[in-house]
Amino acid sequence: MKLASKLRQLALICGAMLAQAGLAQAAGITPEPIPPRYGIPGDQKVIQAYADTNDVGAMRNHAWRIWEGLTADSKSIYEGKALPIWETWLATNQVFTNPPQSLCETCEIPASYQALYEPAREFKAPHQFSHGAALLIAKPGKQNPGGLVGFNKFDPAEVKFLWTPHQQNGAAFNYTSYTDLTNLNATWPDSTKMQDAKIIGTPRSSIELKPVLSFVAAKTLTAIPYWQGPQASTDAACANVNVEHLKHPSGRYNPSNCHPDPTTWTNCILVDAANPTAALRAATAAEFSGANLSQAAGCTSVSNAQYVGIDSLYHFKMTAKEATDFNNFQDNGQKVASAGDSMVLVAMHVNTKEITDWTWETFWWQAGQKTPDNYPGDGAGRPKTLAAPWNNYNMCASYSQTTKPGNKGEMNVCFNPYLETSGGIPDGIRSNCTTCHGTAAFNQPPTGGYPLSYAQPVDFNSVQYFLCSTQTDFSYAIQGNQANAPANPPAWACNRK
Ligand code: HEC
Repeated sequence: MKLASKLRQLALICGAMLAQAGLAQAAGITPEPIPPRYGIPGDQKVIQAYADTNDVGAMRNHAWRIWEGLTADSKSIYEGKALPIWETWLATNQVFTNPPQSLCETCEIPASYQALYEPAREFKAPHQFSHGAALLIAKPGKQNPGGLVGFNKFDPAEVKFLWTPHQQNGAAFNYTSYTDLTNLNATWPDSTKMQDAKIIGTPRSSIELKPVLSFVAAKTLTAIPYWQGPQASTDAACANVNVEHLKHPSGRYNPSNCHPDPTTWTNCILVDAANPTAALRAATAAEFSGANLSQAAGCTSVSNAQYVGIDSLYHFKMTAKEATDFNNFQDNGQKVASAGDSMVLVAMHVNTKEITDWTWETFWWQAGQKTPDNYPGDGAGRPKTLAAPWNNYNMCASYSQTTKPGNKGEMNVCFNPYLETSGGIPDGIRSNCTTCHGTAAFNQPPTGGYPLSYAQPVDFNSVQYFLCSTQTDFSYAIQGNQANAPANPPAWACNRK
């Protein structure tokens, strides 16, 4: 690693440790938890009751509070503006690749390095689209529909948890280490039930994020795909889907083969970076013919296109490095972005450890408009106090696999139109966050991977998913981001009887 980048890592990591120790910093970016006024984490019993009684309104109100807290101004100023709280958090590489033990002895950062601070934005194609077994069974999907990039972020409490060794089965294990997880997995007595072989749960204030970004050119109007339901897609398998059936998955209907990923959406919004405050309206023919449609291949008619200024979305200008990272993850090697172009936030997955199986909510840009058929969610209950541009996002929330406790009742459906519509995710438009994340386990058997159908909940004692493995508290990040993981892991083997 080059010295400058090593120092930057050190500054960021030590900054996070100082923040956790409650020490003030003169400048730079300090990871900051959601301020207490938002009431996150809330009362565990109260929130669990929302899930158990399937009180969708209460779950949604709670999810909006989380969103308000995540997007509130932090104390960190970057390029003249306060960063939202979530932007101050550390991302995967900082948390997993360079845990502080190896880098930070005293955590005294020379003042001259403060200027090196910048928000943690690790542009990659969401790994979710190409995850393990999913590829073998799903419809072949684009690796990176519409050139989306995404990454993961972790709140300060979870980072501290991940950097602390945990006592289990008579020894201490660090969950950012592949060796430690391998050793932990070997300590379970043969008699351990699969549902009991798991890491120690993360603290109740833990929050994980997956922000998803698209690109908008500095000078050319750039089309961003606009969700109008699964039928507003060029995927022929979506033409005859019945949204009511999709909202209520059951054994009566087959898993859906419709994959309306954003490149197939027939609607788009032309986003103008040069007139940031321009109001939403229909696009003109001249605007449409001059627009960059590279991320919205399915949007072929001006009658399906709207126009808006870039302030409708959360956005920031790309550095040269970010533009290169973005270009590196384009499907067909398009070099669309350069320094000074913008990234816009189109979607964000959020989960909080306020309840045992986590709360799950996901937000996507709907330009302040309605989502057709409220599928998979809508803007209902959005607080009037929510500041722009965050009030232009719609949302769904689901805090359990099923509508009744104990895996009884109907399956809940909640997904993000920008993400789980991918061809890499089986039955994604009927999916449930808890069900898929519930299968996250270290050393998962080859029969594991994504659920093939969301007609029924996952059983945490299932041999298919959990034989001889250690469940990672619904976290895919903990399942597979360890820096010291071997390039060619040994073949899966089971020594437990
Ligand atoms: C089909 C499986 C699947 C479904 C359904 C799914 N996810 Fe994920 N999710 C993943 C995988 C795999 C990762 C890790 C790789 C990545 O980030 O792309 C992940 C990552 C995340 C992360 C980053 C932290 C972590 O655990 O790695 C969050 C937050 C998240 N998902 C939230 C959600 C929410 C909220 C929903 C429902 C709206 C959801 N997910 C639905 C598979 C899924």
